[in-house]
Amino acid sequence: MKKIAVDISHGKSYQILIGEGIVVEKGLAAVLCGRGSSCLVVTDRNVAGLYKKLLPPKMRTLVLPPGEKEKKFSNIERICRGAVESGLDRGSQVVALGGGVVGDMAGFAASIYMRGVDYVQVPTTVLAMVDSSVGGKTGVDLPEGKNLVGTFWQPAAVFADTSFIRTLPAREIRCGLAEIIKYGVILDPRLFSALEKGMKFLLACDLSVYEKIIARCCRLKADVVEKDEKEGGLRAILNYGHSFGHAVEKVAGFGKFSHGEAVGIGMRMAAKFAVASGMLSPQEERRQNGLLDMAGLPKSVKASAEKIYSAMFSDKKARAGRLRIVVPRAIGRVELLDSPDPGRVLSAIEAYCSP
Ligand code: NAD
Ligand code: GLY
Repeated sequence: MKKIAVDISHGKSYQILIGEGIVVEKGLAAVLCGRGSSCLVVTDRNVAGLYKKLLPPKMRTLVLPPGEKEKKFSNIERICRGAVESGLDRGSQVVALGGGVVGDMAGFAASIYMRGVDYVQVPTTVLAMVDSSVGGKTGVDLPEGKNLVGTFWQPAAVFADTSFIRTLPAREIRCGLAEIIKYGVILDPRLFSALEKGMKFLLACDLSVYEKIIARCCRLKADVVEKDEKEGGLRAILNYGHSFGHAVEKVAGFGKFSHGEAVGIGMRMAAKFAVASGMLSPQEERRQNGLLDMAGLPKSVKASAEKIYSAMFSDKKARAGRLRIVVPRAIGRVELLDSPDPGRVLSAIEAYCSP
């Protein structure tokens, strides 16, 4: 088992525990033992179906329909009303058992229920283990764009049991791999090289390799979040590929591409832009795209490039009608760029759009 400490000031520090069986073998009740006066487990139908034994009848559980389309305000009301019905008080906690959709919504509800109660993340997808369960970003989508409403609310603890990966559909594994590759490109050339050598083990679901890689990604994310919890600047690098990717998700229609798939396409667009601007060598672009290919991530989107370009302006990094994107300079190094050349951005998008 691996332990990562996330050291955030003002009493918001917590630990991430990562290991095979740490939740599934012990049971949720044992893991949560002694935490909070009472709890409400929030999960989705797929996870609840697969992991019934983790949810004994005496444990209050709210089961939501699965999928990105469900990441909406009405479900926040459902969670908050479920919390009232379950008698949750200010000493209680919400438990997010699921992928990033459940985690973002349960965290958001926890941050506003009774003006804020604790929540614990029990991520069940690779993406949630390496990214969404850590760092305290919570929220929901609006029809106008992804994650447009939310809060920064750090979890009280994260329990990442790698054995959940065994039941993940291959497509969901690929989505997590996109975020893992992202960490290599933005921060860690050694991680990137290790992925080039070890992708086959991840695709074959080798849980001991996942434990190491998840721990490395969580450490990298924690280092960034510790320096810039509320995304004053540095934290924006974690959104590499996301300005393009969120726009791809929106234009293709939420649910058509999963978050990870869209981020993978977004990383290809960002690298294309960087090469055209002389900021990245074509060899480094090929290395990035080669790894995305190895992970089996999609290479293009059937959509209008102009629509994707317009949708990028509802990204949260855009300011006063000007785009701000994360641009790779080399494997392991990125920078934030304000007001990128519109023609080059559009061409980079066009390169990955098919009619
Ligand atoms: P998800 O939560 O929709 O899960 C993907 C699918 O896998 C769902 O159908 C789910 O029911 C199913 N599933 C979950 N665990 C399973 C398991 N162990 N076995 C079988 N099926 C399982 O999607 P996701 O990819 O985990 O998360 C994407 C979301 O995360 C997006 O909304 C994105 O915006 C958000 N996100 C948030 C942050 C953050 O910092 N808060 C970071 C990255 C992504
Ligand atoms: N996933 C981006 C962030 O947490 O900031």
